[in-house]
Amino acid sequence: MQDEYYNDKVVRQFLLAAAVWGIIGMSVGVLAAAQLMWPALNFNVPWLTFSRIRPDHTFGVIFAFGGSALMGTCYYVVQRTGHARLAWGRLAGFTFWGWQLVCVLAMTTMPLGLTQGKEYAEPEWFIDILIAVVWVSFGAVFFASLARRRIRHIYVACWYYGAFIIAVGLLHIVNNLAIPVSLAKSYPIYSGVVDAMVQWWYGHNAVAFFLTAGFLGMMYYFVPRQAQQPLWSYRFSIVNFWALISVYMWAGSHHLMYTALPDWVQSVGMAFSLVLLMPSWGSAANGLLTFNGSWQRLRSDPAAKFMVLSLVFYAASTFEGSMMAIKSVNSLSHYTDWTIAHVHSGSLGWVAMITIGSLYAMAPRALGRPAMHSHQAMELHFWLHLGGTLLYVASMWTAGVTEGVMWRATLPDGSLAYTFLDSLLAIKPLYLLRWLGGVLILSGMWVMAWNLWYTAAAARARLITPIPVPIPEPEPRQEPAPIAVPA
Ligand code: HEM
Ligand code: HEM
Repeated sequence: MQDEYYNDKVVRQFLLAAAVWGIIGMSVGVLAAAQLMWPALNFNVPWLTFSRIRPDHTFGVIFAFGGSALMGTCYYVVQRTGHARLAWGRLAGFTFWGWQLVCVLAMTTMPLGLTQGKEYAEPEWFIDILIAVVWVSFGAVFFASLARRRIRHIYVACWYYGAFIIAVGLLHIVNNLAIPVSLAKSYPIYSGVVDAMVQWWYGHNAVAFFLTAGFLGMMYYFVPRQAQQPLWSYRFSIVNFWALISVYMWAGSHHLMYTALPDWVQSVGMAFSLVLLMPSWGSAANGLLTFNGSWQRLRSDPAAKFMVLSLVFYAASTFEGSMMAIKSVNSLSHYTDWTIAHVHSGSLGWVAMITIGSLYAMAPRALGRPAMHSHQAMELHFWLHLGGTLLYVASMWTAGVTEGVMWRATLPDGSLAYTFLDSLLAIKPLYLLRWLGGVLILSGMWVMAWNLWYTAAAARARLITPIPVPIPEPEPRQEPAPIAVPA
């Protein structure tokens, strides 16, 4: 019935892709973590070296896993909030296959050594062009669907999805302007410090619009649904939207503290990063307060638990980010594993948890099932993910502060108290803990894949097994009335 009204085929495809890419991207992350602990694990194979698999991990988790989840939920949400079917079904189908092609191309060319060398924008020019085509098509489907809505108001989740689509398209095109010299090599049109600034304007806003605005869109739709309550304050959500969108664009230079970038530009980045805390906490508070009156759901609903914890991590990682943008704090945290801890408290805590919670909320509905196949499996996934994330983040915080403090320690004569190797040996056990955390998280992803598979199998069985139609009993034969024969 749902499929007749809404186009959920493409939603289901993206859902499946998100689960598969999540497992692939995180497996590469676990391998990268293992290599930092046991370097011999690259087996002297060039395409298995840390430098090549690390961008594979970041592309896999951000663009393949996160991107598929964002596009799938975006198509789901725009239909439900507008009470209208997705526009241009074939183009939507193209965005699915096109995005998967982009991911396969990027994930295979990077280990082969083909890269632009720009963080989070590694794929070479021909993949960039394909990304631009798919992205513009995605935008066309989304905005055309919005235009055919039957509800006059545009719900706040769609504002976030819309901003995410426009900003990511703009960032991608500007940062990837390059001159190709062969199929496998291109050079950016920017150079020197301008190149660095454009790259980190892009890099930071990839965090802002891909890893934040898009996922806030997801949060604003799925949190009230799961809490079964209206949003705590709708007006507050709109204020936060405009504040977030206007402030984020100016904070990118906090990635380039103490570099050749003019000092005042670094200070602008720091100031805007501090202001950014307000809309970030505003959204986190709005989401959490929406659970007021239904906190008891946390006892029995793993999807709600994922969502609440994701908001807690969102608040924590944005607070940490604003603090790390203060120049004196950044002088300690930069180049250390503290940054890695911040990244993963944002990505495993906020991004992955809101995604997993939303997938658990959406999957049964998109598959036409009353609930996920196994409630216990969802519960297990929650604890594996939470335990793994805490292990990862706590170990990297400790490692980061240890490195920072050891690197700046000096002897009375002014010479360094420790060598770089000393600091590496000091944090080695923490790398083991991070790897263990990764293993727990990855196991949780397999549990989710298993659960999704059986939920989908039940949905398929329902479609294939013919519904028994009662066969009516044959009417008792009516004997013709005896014909009266005249005597
Ligand atoms: C099983 C889970 C994961 C493991 C074991 C893992 C492991 C790693 C490792 C070992 C690195 C390299 C750190 C370094 O260069 O020193 C890394 C970097 C990174 N990971 Fe993950 N990761 C996981 C999940 C994720 C997820 C879900 C995301 C995003 C949605 C993510 C985003 C990133 C980013 C953006 C970086 C680059 C950080 C930087 O350069 O500052 N990771 N990860
Ligand atoms: C108020 C919000 C935030 C602020 C002000 C902020 C600030 C910062 C700062 C100062 C750094 C360190 C830059 C350096 O020393 O190189 C950083 C790194 C990073 N942050 Fe955030 N952050 C925020 C939220 C987030 C969130 C929510 C995520 C993820 C979902 C995230 C992902 C990252 C990544 C991936 C990096 C590493 C970039 C790299 O060097 O490769 N941030 N952030």
